[in-house]
Amino acid sequence: MTDSRPAAVIVLAAGEGTRMRSARTPKVLHELLGRTMLGHVVAANRALEPDHLVVVVGHAREQVQQYLADLDADVTTVVQEPQNGTGHAVQVALAELPELTGTVVVVLGDAPLLTTATLRDLLEVHRRTGAATTVLSAVVDDATGYGRVVRDVAGAVVSIVEHRDADDAVRAISEINSGVFAFDSARLREALAQLTTDNVQGELYLTDVVGLHRSAGHVVSAHVAAAAYEVMGVNDRVQLSQARRLLNDRVVAEHQRAGVTVLDPQTTWIDVQVRIEADATLHPGCQLHGSTTVAAGAVVGPDTTLVDTEVGPDATVLRAHCVGAVIGQAAAVGPYTYLRPGTRLGRAAKAGGFVEIKASTLGEGSKVPHLSYVGDAVIGARSNIGAATVVVNYDGRDKHRTTIGDDVRVGSDTMLVAPVSVGDGAYTAAGSVITEDVPAGALGVGRARQRNIDGWVARRRGTSTDPANQGDEQP
Ligand code: UD1
Ligand code: CA
Repeated sequence: MTDSRPAAVIVLAAGEGTRMRSARTPKVLHELLGRTMLGHVVAANRALEPDHLVVVVGHAREQVQQYLADLDADVTTVVQEPQNGTGHAVQVALAELPELTGTVVVVLGDAPLLTTATLRDLLEVHRRTGAATTVLSAVVDDATGYGRVVRDVAGAVVSIVEHRDADDAVRAISEINSGVFAFDSARLREALAQLTTDNVQGELYLTDVVGLHRSAGHVVSAHVAAAAYEVMGVNDRVQLSQARRLLNDRVVAEHQRAGVTVLDPQTTWIDVQVRIEADATLHPGCQLHGSTTVAAGAVVGPDTTLVDTEVGPDATVLRAHCVGAVIGQAAAVGPYTYLRPGTRLGRAAKAGGFVEIKASTLGEGSKVPHLSYVGDAVIGARSNIGAATVVVNYDGRDKHRTTIGDDVRVGSDTMLVAPVSVGDGAYTAAGSVITEDVPAGALGVGRARQRNIDGWVARRRGTSTDPANQGDEQP
């Protein structure tokens, strides 16, 4: 809807957020599903394509400004100091946009669930009714803490009264102010100039613009949000977890509608940037974070965490923790597998139970089936790494590389002391400590020969007087 493109969006994010009780993280930088609250708000509003997207910052502004600079180079910030209320915040922002005409949208940095679709609906009502102010409201079960939308007998909006300034009759109203508005910029400037601090908090309330416009005879409209939860404000960590749950419900349902099988939405957490193709399956207890992608036919979980990991078509990832890994088509991972950054599993490769792999490539069809560590290694195609093999990549000071060719059979319990290479088709004997390169086709043996000492046990039993020592001493 290009005709309702706003001239400016102003995001209010200067408040301290004392109810979060955080000494480290400003309220609007707390995260839900891989994005900060402020990041969600900026993303939803960026899609409206405003001429200006301005964030009002104040408390912990260096941190918030740095975050925004990294997030979106076209966001501008305005400093509000001191923070004298939401009305004051908008005054400060508009002072930086003296030429601005047309529609101004004001949103709150602590309302992360609001969608672009609802903002578009608000703008459409604003445009259609020719209003000076259009408030986004919602009817909620528990209105405690929110400003209430007061209407006259005809149903027209009269004013917004903050919870703290409300009497019992007003507190009984279940229609709340979301804090989100569309304004005509010229009318907004007029009303902002008339705000007073005559309220319980002694602040300039943006919400008072509604009453001022109504008194001046301007059109005041309201758009009641279809999904009340979208306007939820997050003031403390209880509300943050509630918002995270609601957002996750939405994200999971979107994937389900797009063809992803999610067995247990309650225990499946999917960051907003994650991409999942149709016909992928997520078992209970999965957390998909960051830039993770899951291709068609892949089966992930139960109990798997994927961070910035790529899962190929028809791969299976079972009870695994994977960070920055690439899992190839039809590859198999798990159970109890830790894949660290730089791991690349080729087509139909396997990283099995109690296996840790870091910065290593496994070629097509190669397998590390059991109880192994592989670090800084390149393994060719169709090779098998026997159980309990360790790539000894670290000498206490430096990391070294290991190269293993195609069709290699590394025997169980081999120590591959890097830097070392094993050529195509070579074998290593079980229990070997391989410190020298093994040429193609050779068997590398690096272990002491076994000897059997006949009758040793009986002799030992006979000579020891202390039963606690039996069998402990070396011959
Ligand atoms: C505000 C609204 C209330 C509404 C609720 C919705 C006012 C006066 N009240 O109340 O009607 O129901 O949101 O969640 O507008 N901020 C600034 N500068 C300031 C003060 C606040 O930028 O000087 C920012 C905060 O960082 C925050 C947002 O504005 O992101 C809302 O402020 P907050 O103190 O949380 O307002 P509420 O009490 O929740
Ligand atoms: Ca709030």
